[in-house]
Amino acid sequence: MKTFAAGLLCLLLPVAPAWAAEAPMQVYTRAAQSLDGEWKVIVDPYENGYYNYRYQPFDQQADPPKGAYFRDAKPESPTDLVEYDFDTAMSLQVPGDWNTQDPRLYYYEGSVWYRKKFDAPARRPTDRAFLEFGAVNYRADVYLNGRKLGVHEGGFTPFRFEVTDRLRPRGNSLVLKVDNRRRADGVPTLNTDWWNYGGITRSVGLVVVPEVFVRDYRLALASLADREVAGRVQLDGARGGEEVSVALPELGVRQRVRTGADGQAEFRFRVPGARLWSPEHPQLYRIEIASGSDTLVDRVGLRTIATRGRQLLLNGEPLFLRGISVHEEYAADGGGRVRDAGQARRLLERARSLEANFVRLAHYPHNEHMARLADEMGLLVWSEIPVYWTIDWANEATYRNAEAQLEAMIGRDRNRASVIIWSLANETPVSDARNRFLSRLAARARALDDSRLLSAAMEKHYREDDPDMAVVEDPLAELVDLVSFNQYIGWYDGTLDKIDRVRWQIPYDKPVFVSEFGADAKQGLHGDAGAIWTEEYQAELYRRTLRMLDRIEGFAGTSPWILSDFRSPRRPLAGVQDGFNRKGLMSEKGEPKQAFHVLRDYYRQKAGNAPP
Ligand code: GCU
Repeated sequence: MKTFAAGLLCLLLPVAPAWAAEAPMQVYTRAAQSLDGEWKVIVDPYENGYYNYRYQPFDQQADPPKGAYFRDAKPESPTDLVEYDFDTAMSLQVPGDWNTQDPRLYYYEGSVWYRKKFDAPARRPTDRAFLEFGAVNYRADVYLNGRKLGVHEGGFTPFRFEVTDRLRPRGNSLVLKVDNRRRADGVPTLNTDWWNYGGITRSVGLVVVPEVFVRDYRLALASLADREVAGRVQLDGARGGEEVSVALPELGVRQRVRTGADGQAEFRFRVPGARLWSPEHPQLYRIEIASGSDTLVDRVGLRTIATRGRQLLLNGEPLFLRGISVHEEYAADGGGRVRDAGQARRLLERARSLEANFVRLAHYPHNEHMARLADEMGLLVWSEIPVYWTIDWANEATYRNAEAQLEAMIGRDRNRASVIIWSLANETPVSDARNRFLSRLAARARALDDSRLLSAAMEKHYREDDPDMAVVEDPLAELVDLVSFNQYIGWYDGTLDKIDRVRWQIPYDKPVFVSEFGADAKQGLHGDAGAIWTEEYQAELYRRTLRMLDRIEGFAGTSPWILSDFRSPRRPLAGVQDGFNRKGLMSEKGEPKQAFHVLRDYYRQKAGNAPP
């Protein structure tokens, strides 16, 4: 989304979120001054630091009073009335949700003010500086040294503000008003089956770059047969005609190209000696993109993903997705949102222990560590925007929000070999407005990245004349490459015996992917396989469901719901759920249930390395 370079004008005018896309910026491998750690916070349910008593926003006044929390003000005399003080306020850790850091905030939905004081790093006079936010859920109003930088909406995608001319050498005050209230016109909307973790949930950094720098690039294996790599570099600050060199040193490749007036330069070269990336051989190569005094270094894998009829093809070879769905939650230590690469790695290691080769990162873009670790570990990835359930389909601002989140997701991760599927939506009710919304989104996704597959989790229904014939038929299936759907036969839909009776009608010449199935089980609760909530019931549902799925023509894989139990406000059953959705194959602490072993044994057979 567009960020506004704040100026006095901005303080005079409302800074409404404008859903123009913000150009991606690759910062993960750049040196940055971390602003993670302790931030001072003020919980502000009445937004007293944002509105005056007439409910007018302070930041739309020409000269906001000290009572505006973003002023980070101090009394200047014994009678100077300032009714807040960040320095004596409570603290929270960034990155991290507030819900699991302080029991008083467990259920809190509202605004929290965050403040970080920092000194600017040394830099050349012509250098430029950007504040980079990994993600803030849900809306962030951002101020630096008392002046508004802008607003960002969307709880799971990165954003940034250029602050080159706003930094002081010392004593900068960075203030965010973070508001996690759910919105009917939001993305996601009011109703979700996951915890609404609020806060600065991912890292914050200050990135200093040369006046002209390598802002973004994209690269893909354009031709498998010719081992031809094609891509594009985007400079920022360019005037056109700059030389850019693109090198894969380990493959002896270096190509020099020149930018056009738009600061872009295309490259194309062959890499005959390259080893293709795959889950079995997650080969990554160093890439160096240099222009002027700037060099961006990254690590990339080379592979292709395609479909041929009902067959999925990775590097031209048939592929079966041995998957599992994953929420971005690490509750093992009592926490909530994944906070760092270590927790991300532990989640992916849990998935790998299932003999999985695929993770469906539900239902929103996860932190950037996940796809990068998946690149290293050899896990394929489904990445998704939170167009979930009953979105406000007819609202243009809602569409622009979804599109901005799609652009940020693709812009951040489109160089990750592990990511093979962009997902547009989850379980969205069919309507004309929804079809138009998703059709626009699909077209935008294809325009941004034609090297990956599109999908979305649809729903099934039954034929009226045959209650045991399940049908997947959805206009969305025409727009995507993989026909994916969620089904809960034996849980929300009938009991275990129904699984053995149901047959499937899926009238598309495309691969079929079952993006969810499962049942709740409390880890350690045992009983007859016919009794729900027991591990035995969940295990039996897995055994029967896997047999049923293997009978589906074009069945190309599945990502059962879900790796670990996770928090949800929709799961109150005391003694069993206790605020957790218990469909995990593991408890939230990582304790495996019987169904874990059922799926792992199935995947071992699929991988061809089943024990005798
Ligand atoms: C739905 C939905 C999930 C939800 C799950 C459940 O399919 O996609 O987000 O958690 O079912 O009800 O457990």
